Amino acid sequence: MMDPSLDAMARGELDALLEVATAAARDAGEVLLDHFGRLRDVRTKSSARDLVSEADVASERLIVERLRAARPKHHIEAEEEVKDRVDPRTPRWFLDPLDGTTNFVHGLPIFAVSMGLYLGGVPQLAVVHLPRIGETFTATLGSGAFLDGAPIQVSCAGSLGQAVLATGFPYRRNELEHSNLENFGRFFYDVRGMRRMGSAAVDLAYVAAGRLDGFWELHLSPHDVAGGALLVREAGGVVTDAHGDDDWLRGGSIVASGPALHEAIRERVVC
Ligand code: IPD
Ligand code: CA
Ligand code: CA
Repeated sequence: MMDPSLDAMARGELDALLEVATAAARDAGEVLLDHFGRLRDVRTKSSARDLVSEADVASERLIVERLRAARPKHHIEAEEEVKDRVDPRTPRWFLDPLDGTTNFVHGLPIFAVSMGLYLGGVPQLAVVHLPRIGETFTATLGSGAFLDGAPIQVSCAGSLGQAVLATGFPYRRNELEHSNLENFGRFFYDVRGMRRMGSAAVDLAYVAAGRLDGFWELHLSPHDVAGGALLVREAGGVVTDAHGDDDWLRGGSIVASGPALHEAIRERVVC
C-alpha cells in the first residue's frame, strides 16, 4: 500500500491545507450544533444500531464542498455520500462528518468531525474537532500534534495497572465472530479503568493528548481512524493493527497508545 516516492507533501501545501481543513471542520461543527437536540430524520443503515441523521449528511456536504473548492483534483472518501476512485498518486481525504452519531442522537456531547489526508497510504494531515466540547486536535506529518494550537503528547504509562483504556463495539456485533466483548474481558480486571466514549476519533485524539493511555477497536472503517491515527503518531504514540502490522486503516483492527504500553495492549487483542 505504501509507496515511498509518494510519502510526503510539501510543508507549505500541508500548512495551507491544514487551514482549509480546520475551518471546514469548525464550520461543519456549527452545522452539527444547529441540529443537536433538534433532529427530525434519524434512519438506520447497516443494522438497527447504525444511525444516520440529517446532521451527518449536512456536515459531510459542507466539508466536501470546501475541499472540492480548495483542491478540485484531490479525492475524497467520506462516510455517507462520496467515494472517489482509489488512486495512490492522488491525495485522498477520509471524512467522518459526525463520529459518535449514537451519542449525538441521544444528546450526549462526545462527538466529532474527523478528517485525515493521505498520500500513497501515508497520513499527512489530521483534524478532529469536537464542537460541543469546543476542542480542535490537529497534526501534520513530521510537525507534532496539537490541541487548540498547544503541543500534546501521549501518556508514558508503562503498565496496564496505571492505564485507562478505551474501546468500542461494532454495530453488527450479533453477526460477527469477534464482537470485541471477549477482548474487553481480557483487560477488565487488570486496568485502572475502561471507557467506551462512543467515538473512535475522540478515543484516538484523547490517546494523543495523554488523557487515555490506550485504545483498540475492531471492524472500524478508514473514515473512523484516518485523522486520529496521525494525531497519535505525531504525539509520540504507536499505531498498529492487532497483529502489530501497519494495516490499521483498512485492515479491520487498530491498537494505539504510548510506546511503553503498546505491546501489552496488542498481545491481548484477538481479532
Ligand atoms: C462509530 C464510532 C464508535 C465506534 C463505531 C463507529 P459513527 O462511528 O466511532 O465509537 O465504536 O464502531 O462506527 O457511526 O458514530 O460515525
Ligand atoms: Ca465513525
Ligand atoms: Ca459517522
